[in-house]
Amino acid sequence: MKIGLISDLHTDVTPRNKEIVPHLINAVRAAELDVFVIAGDLAWHLTELAETLNAFHLAGLTCEKLFVPGNHDIWAMETAAVTSRQKCRIISNLCQECGFHPLIDEPLVKKKVGFCGTIGWYDYTLAPKGYHFSEAQYADKQLMGAVWRDKRYAKWMEPDAAVAHRFEAELGEQINAIRDKVSRIIVVTHHVPFRECLHYHGKLPWDFFRAFMGSKGLGARCLSEPLVTHALFGHTHRHIDRQIHSVRAICAPIGYLHEKPAAGLKAYAEQSLVCFSL
Ligand SMILES: [Fe+2]
Ligand SMILES: [Fe+2]
Repeated sequence: MKIGLISDLHTDVTPRNKEIVPHLINAVRAAELDVFVIAGDLAWHLTELAETLNAFHLAGLTCEKLFVPGNHDIWAMETAAVTSRQKCRIISNLCQECGFHPLIDEPLVKKKVGFCGTIGWYDYTLAPKGYHFSEAQYADKQLMGAVWRDKRYAKWMEPDAAVAHRFEAELGEQINAIRDKVSRIIVVTHHVPFRECLHYHGKLPWDFFRAFMGSKGLGARCLSEPLVTHALFGHTHRHIDRQIHSVRAICAPIGYLHEKPAAGLKAYAEQSLVCFSL
């Protein structure tokens, strides 16, 4: 089984982030994948998100397509009343219409390989060591004039730790639901499951904002289940492929294309799509 991963397309951030989509679709087609995974952060706006999912749909790819939303996708900015939970439901419906399996709703089993997924969130367990910020300072999500924009647009109506722990529990439930039917499990999250996958620079405000990268509990769920062999995620905008004990941790982001990639968009799309075979 050949699996391809991409994340953080951010198609509404720069014109290049939108222009790269057809190149990415061609790269997915050329890779002859069995399963294609998008690990979140397609776009802030639903119209843009729908358009991008639909572009993959209209391409007539024959592979299974899986989607987990990212924090930007669940930003509730359409109206004052909409919540992030409601936005998750809307995104799941869009996925169904565009031939994507919404992994946050239920796991998928294909040829005895299980795929489990959650957005994940942060509970400040990946906060940098050596500083003395309080829980309240992290909850405020701003430092030295910089603001983590989930503060304004993520509307979960509960504290960050409660959100993170709910998603961790849902991931655990998905794993338990399929563990007797599969020979291995691939976990997909948007947020980062392992501290080892983050770079702390010893500088502020950079280090402060690492607190919003993910949670230790996500990684713990992966490591405590021997069937989990891969953890696929996004959010960091850094390419990562490393072994963390029993789990291969992979992040394959497009990221913000403020500058045109030196290799050109086509080559950048091909390089960014990470493929592996089981
Ligand atoms: Fe992102
Ligand atoms: Fe993100």
